[in-house]
Amino acid sequence: MADQMTLDSIRVDFPGAPPHVPKDRIVDLNFAMGSQPNDLVDPYEPFEWLAGPEIPRLLYNVPPKSGMGAVTNSGTGNWVATHYEDINRIYTDNEYFSNKGAAEFQRLIGETFRSIPLGVDLPDHTKYRMYLMPYFSPARISRDLEPWIREIVVEMIDAIAVKGEVDMAWDFARVFPVRIFMGLMGFPAPMFEQFLAWEWDILHTGSLEKMQAALRGVLEFLRGFIAEKEKHPDEFLTSAIVNGKIQGKGLTEEEKIGMVWFLWLGGLDTVAATIAQMFRRMALQPDIQTMLRGHPELINGAVEEFLRTQPILSSARTAFKDFEWHGMQIKKGESFSCLNPAGNFDAARFPNPRVFDPTRIGNRHFTFIGGIHACLGAHLARRELRLLLEEWFKRIPEFRVKPGADTTVFPGLLSIRNLPLVWDVK
Ligand code: HEM
Repeated sequence: MADQMTLDSIRVDFPGAPPHVPKDRIVDLNFAMGSQPNDLVDPYEPFEWLAGPEIPRLLYNVPPKSGMGAVTNSGTGNWVATHYEDINRIYTDNEYFSNKGAAEFQRLIGETFRSIPLGVDLPDHTKYRMYLMPYFSPARISRDLEPWIREIVVEMIDAIAVKGEVDMAWDFARVFPVRIFMGLMGFPAPMFEQFLAWEWDILHTGSLEKMQAALRGVLEFLRGFIAEKEKHPDEFLTSAIVNGKIQGKGLTEEEKIGMVWFLWLGGLDTVAATIAQMFRRMALQPDIQTMLRGHPELINGAVEEFLRTQPILSSARTAFKDFEWHGMQIKKGESFSCLNPAGNFDAARFPNPRVFDPTRIGNRHFTFIGGIHACLGAHLARRELRLLLEEWFKRIPEFRVKPGADTTVFPGLLSIRNLPLVWDVK
């Protein structure tokens, strides 16, 4: 697929673009935003060429025709960065790039609270980040969470080991991280299916009606849950967040719902999509299994390499002011999309970018982005992935895709819904 693609093949006419955008920069890059499935062993392979030296340093993408973007996009298109160095600048240059208003799906039902901390710029961002960070620090995860996470993952693997098969995406990847997240936050376990259904409607249907209904459902639930934790505090994270103090002051209602809502949104299906793609890759490329089974000391590096080669999300930012960049006129308020599936394979930054190499040094990929908004749950996510691999290889022999199963995958958060795997039971 990548071999056939050229810049010319994705150039399009788009009269809706602002007049200062040169026509030869206008392209349709929506195929690279995770909504078109493929069946490659390395499903992100088609996007590497976008980080190549022949690609201009800024492109301009037309608005999506369908999906979530079609509901939330302003309709005028956006700039796209595909090279490592440019993406890095966008994530780290807080003077020129803003994240104000990010992930505010709640506006679709007239709510005005912010998604905290993602949709907040400096200087306010720092106080929220400092407030939440201790709960997600590596030290806290090691001390309070690791034994519990290991217990859950061992229990789940033991339950399937003797069966010789599992739907890894639906029955394992979808369940394990959400059990951890819900346990961490203190959410009631029976809400599991409802949470995932709401999240699916908000992120993946692109239907305004479904999004609005799900938003009403989840926000009503979260507000009720917050009120309950204020009356009856417990030892879990939601309770700690809503009953705590920032710089000596109790939180406002908007701050409480803004934080709990965004954690809910960010914590549910990101790790699930990553696990499903990780096991799909290992099933289709068994030499990775052999390597990790024989060398468990490579598991940490392998987690990082799975993350680099599976950047499930691309992030957006807005220009704070007018400026010139790479010869382009950028206007205040214009939107930028950072194409992580190109930046993570930029050969100028990652030698042999398509090679899965757990010994890679300085693997500073963008899967958790970088800068002040770098994923707060990154340490937790990494730990879940590491513990899963450690315990898996101790208990399950070489596995493969069940014959006849469809391994088509979306190279993004949509990922793969079902992934039947089989192995020989002794
Ligand atoms: C493999 C799993 C995950 C991936 C790939 C991922 C990815 C990301 C990305 C790309 C961002 C930046 C978004 C942007 O700037 O537009 C982000 C931010 C964030 N993520 Fe994650 N995430 C993962 C897991 C989690 C988990 C498990 C949690 C919570 C339990 C979480 C909580 C957050 C929060 C709170 C932020 C906002 C940080 C800030 O603005 O300071 N993430 N994540």
